[in-house]
Amino acid sequence: MDQIAVDPALLEAARAARRVVVFSGAGMSAESGVPTFRDAQTGLWERFDPAELATPQAWETDPALVWAWYQWRTGLVRHVQPNDGHRALAAWARRVPMTLVTQNVDDLHERAGSEVAAHLHGSLFTPRCSVCSAPHPSDGGLDVEPTGPVAPPACARCGGDVRPGAVWFGEALPEDAWTRAADAVDACDLMVVVGTSAVVYPAAGLPRRAVESGATVIEINPEATDLSPLVHHSWRTTAAVGLPALVAAVGANP
Ligand code: OAD
Repeated sequence: MDQIAVDPALLEAARAARRVVVFSGAGMSAESGVPTFRDAQTGLWERFDPAELATPQAWETDPALVWAWYQWRTGLVRHVQPNDGHRALAAWARRVPMTLVTQNVDDLHERAGSEVAAHLHGSLFTPRCSVCSAPHPSDGGLDVEPTGPVAPPACARCGGDVRPGAVWFGEALPEDAWTRAADAVDACDLMVVVGTSAVVYPAAGLPRRAVESGATVIEINPEATDLSPLVHHSWRTTAAVGLPALVAAVGANP
């Protein structure tokens, strides 16, 4: 398939980059078949806003409902594949120093061959005890959408309910991941922001921080976001179309 043309100014910035940060959100995995947070939910989940399931309050009220939602998403992610955008980033990282920072809780960057420096919002594959924080092995989630709540397993150490490894609204981000991300942003000369609505803070502050520190910031998103007016290049394309075109144009084909 022919690749789309890359804006020459955007391409020049990408070619000149010596330290790249990629900051990805749910749109990065949309073409793999993972629904974004602002997409309408289906089936059992139609009645729920993801922002209401991803909270400590929801867990306190109905842990089995929250556990079922994360188990369904874990299984869904396990059954899909990285897309050409994930693969293009892995190829580019072999050519230029790149720090990959993601808000995504899936493992599609890793499965495409990238090293992820910071999973700012945790991971679907690292459940832990909600009482003593002991890690609990992931069982890979559910193969089919559940028809109702699913009781969380018991912690092998203390018997407490095991909770998802994702960060919920109102919780602090993992400190080490945040530090790695912020340090890389401060040191980069190019930031590529892919597939995020950039409305959930503090993560959404990272592209703004890059602009303020003098880096060139490119946004790849089919829709305009709050970030669009602030960045140097806002490219209306998708992750699986734009990234392979950009990476091929800088000469870093897989
Ligand atoms: P959102 O669902 O808020 O936004 C997804 C963005 O991806 C939107 O701006 C879409 O326009 C864009 N998009 C859709 N398809 C795309 C494609 N094929 N290629 C590129 N972009 C595409 O997801 P996030 O910004 O990641 O946090 O959400 C941020 C955080 O809010 C999440 O990490 C999660 C969520 O609630 C927590 O759970 C704490």
